[in-house]
Amino acid sequence: MAAGLEGVVAAQTSLSWIDGKRGMLVYRGYAIDDLARHATFEEVVHLLLEGSLPTPDQLAEVGKRLGEEAPLDPLAVTTLGLLPTTTIPMEALRTGVSLLSAGEGVPTYDADDPDSSRGHAYRIVAKLPTLIGTFHRLRQGLEPVVPDPERPVAYNLLRGILGEEPGDDAVAAMDCALVLHAEHTLNASTFAARITAGTLSDIYSAITSAVGTLRGPLHGGANEKVAELLESIASLDDVEAAIDDKLARKERIMGFGHRVYKTEDPRGPHLRDWAERLADQAGRRELFETALKVQQVVFDRKGLYINVDFYSAPLYTAMGIPRDLFTPLFAASRAAGWTAHVLEQQANNRLIRPSSEYVGEREATWVALEDR
Ligand code: CMC
Repeated sequence: MAAGLEGVVAAQTSLSWIDGKRGMLVYRGYAIDDLARHATFEEVVHLLLEGSLPTPDQLAEVGKRLGEEAPLDPLAVTTLGLLPTTTIPMEALRTGVSLLSAGEGVPTYDADDPDSSRGHAYRIVAKLPTLIGTFHRLRQGLEPVVPDPERPVAYNLLRGILGEEPGDDAVAAMDCALVLHAEHTLNASTFAARITAGTLSDIYSAITSAVGTLRGPLHGGANEKVAELLESIASLDDVEAAIDDKLARKERIMGFGHRVYKTEDPRGPHLRDWAERLADQAGRRELFETALKVQQVVFDRKGLYINVDFYSAPLYTAMGIPRDLFTPLFAASRAAGWTAHVLEQQANNRLIRPSSEYVGEREATWVALEDR
């Protein structure tokens, strides 16, 4: 048995591929470096959901569709407003995604209508950013910001959270972060989505499973822990002691290590470049400098490379985004990959039902209740 299913091939996909030894990631054949430099999130959504890069007309159509679907129904806004303000944003997002299907009468998967989930896939990708911004504003007692249908997802996501006009570089950096987090083979949350879809359940149930799975600190929750670590280090002189202390206590350093990559995660350098640029613009370079030194010290001590969650933390911090929204931002982007995997699973489904190895007792003798 492979602990943690390491090395087990559990699905076929044409969505993405990783070469962990060479640090390569492709979405449908396109190198992540090219996508990070040239593609918008809207192009990636089309690439993942439709199978090809969009033509200019198709891109305009995707933008229109996502823009029109972005506003929330009153039911969602009202319900998010009823949540205690102490609700953790990932809990609010999990609730919000589940709520999106309320009243929509979404049936379980029907093989006679094989493309029925596609419209819901766009709806989910469009509405996740609005769920995040709406809950964040409501918990502060502020009016939610209604998304501008003419603007891209990255712009509306930032304006929805910050409540003000984002700068061009911030929008470009957020767009790049959305592209980089959109898809990543059979990671834990994507697997959870595929398992749920594999029962022929509906796409909202699948994405709710995925959001819950992403929350954990070994997966998407790591970016919040990275920020916690970086902010806990008072100065560059304290970095070595802080890391040595954690390692001595056998604690994991969040944002480092990966099941598949045996070298640097190819998404890391793009996030590092944007983090530096936005930190400089904000006049707040300290956290970025701390991150650089933490990267060096952890590599020197353990030979561990950074993963995608490391530099997203100083990047989002430089943008002024609160720490507990970092994992929801990951979800807003990964929704593109999750929904594409659900469509792929539905198109060629077989129930996912692995076996377990029984290690318990085999011949226990029954003991009556009064004798136990
Ligand atoms: N800090 C300290 N030691 C580590 C770390 C780390 N971040 N990552 C791996 N190791 C060590 C681990 O202690 C073990 O050492 P030993 O063999 O001496 O016991 C060895 O490396 C292998 O670790 P593993 O847990 O068997 O590896 P895995 O493939 O099961 O875990 C991982 C992968 C990502 C869960 C792990 O590297 C980790 O916990 N990283 C920190 C959390 C994190 O950054 N998660 C985000 C992952 S990337 C984004 C995403 O997909 O969500």
